[in-house]
Amino acid sequence: MDRTQVVIPAGELERQRTYTRRMAALLAGDRRPLAMVDTYGCQQNVADSQRMMGMLREMGCGFTQDPRLADIILVNTCAIRENAEKKVFGVVGQLVHVKEERPECVICLCGCMAQRPEVAEKIRASYRHVDLVFGPQALWRLPELLYGVYTEKKRVFSVADEHGSIAEGLPVVRESGVKAWVSIMYGCNNFCSYCIVPYVRGRERSREPGCILDEVRELVEAGCREITLLGQNVNSYGKDLETPMDFADLLGEIDRIPGDYLIRFMTSHPKDAGEKLFAAMASCAHVARQLHLPVQSGSSRVLGAMNRGYTREQYLEKVRAARRAMPDLVLTSDIIIGFPGETEEEAMETVSLIREVEYDALFTFIYSPRPGTPAARLPDPASREEKQVWFDRLLDEQNRISGRRHRSYVGKTLRVLVDGESGDSQWPLSSRTHGGRLVHLRGDASLIGRYVQARITGSNTWALFGEAE
Ligand code: 5AD
Ligand code: SF4
Repeated sequence: MDRTQVVIPAGELERQRTYTRRMAALLAGDRRPLAMVDTYGCQQNVADSQRMMGMLREMGCGFTQDPRLADIILVNTCAIRENAEKKVFGVVGQLVHVKEERPECVICLCGCMAQRPEVAEKIRASYRHVDLVFGPQALWRLPELLYGVYTEKKRVFSVADEHGSIAEGLPVVRESGVKAWVSIMYGCNNFCSYCIVPYVRGRERSREPGCILDEVRELVEAGCREITLLGQNVNSYGKDLETPMDFADLLGEIDRIPGDYLIRFMTSHPKDAGEKLFAAMASCAHVARQLHLPVQSGSSRVLGAMNRGYTREQYLEKVRAARRAMPDLVLTSDIIIGFPGETEEEAMETVSLIREVEYDALFTFIYSPRPGTPAARLPDPASREEKQVWFDRLLDEQNRISGRRHRSYVGKTLRVLVDGESGDSQWPLSSRTHGGRLVHLRGDASLIGRYVQARITGSNTWALFGEAE
């Protein structure tokens, strides 16, 4: 796909701004219109919601979390596992009461679920109170889509299977001045056999480095202290640019931006992570010594069936290389237990891998079949109960490891970023170490947004506890 077909032309974006102005005129009245944006799933969805909130704000909207007060409700959904979808259907089902009471309220479903043809069909047929359905690729056209709903008084579906595009310069509402998400690329080309993402988020496409650098620079100048670069697989950044560059080069460029800030990123695919990336991380002062490197399984046979592109040994070698470059690296991972055809022995290979690697933390999932993916067509003889037993063994092991790793922090004094209030009177602040571990902190709210020295006094499986010095 040629870049000119990927990057949305300025004229198109200007046309959307015309719709924004028309929407603002339509919504204008005695009181400020209110929008509710309800977000499920990953950080990419959070970042997408912030852009949609930006567009809604330009239409004159304020925001609420109460559906009874909202004039426009947007549910931004996740399709990664069946449970996530069930939850959304529950939430959207409940909104029928809002529509009965106030038919003028406009209800929208967007995000990854909306892009699944089965879901769009189900909404069309059985959730008739939903006015607008659009997938992640259509997000930048929100003003035009909403305008269609308001003026044509009919339901709008924009869920065509698209390669995907890049829209620069969309407005944004950030939740905090301290931390921000910056998407550096969209989509995924990996087609891991269990995963729905490549089907709903289109092909990989990288933002121009200049646009990313400008966004990071603006954030740093505005006082932002922690920026997380987002992409389904940041390690394939830049392959599609007219002047190709890779993710390690991008980190080097970002690192040159002066200021007191930290760069994190997610997610890295192990098949594309290597010495060059680890060396860049080690040499860039602004880049956190933190790596989320999802392994998914510790069995080479299962990894093959997952289409992950590496073996257990190759993965372990990458971990060793990363730790050679950064002995203080904080390492986390994603695991799927119960992939179709996985045996108990293979699941235990995963348990032995996490024992060998000793991750700081894990995100663990039981396999969920996603219609349309190759894995969903495989025979899956192990019962849910069996998988649960394997899963619990994995969790037990990881809890022991995380507990031990966290205990090793106690007594140390670390530099942490205070990122907000916790709501807990005993530990009123929340903060993060360089490596991204959560520290519940005693100290004054005036510290929010600042780096402070924290003396670590306690720990549990999930977090650390400390006092600001
Ligand atoms: N079932 C269970 N977990 C899944 N993930 C992705 N697809 C599935 C699925 N079908 C997990 C992977 C991925 C994380 C974001 O979600 O571990 O890394
Ligand atoms: Fe899904 Fe694999 Fe792409 Fe991650 S890399 S989004 S698991 S297909």
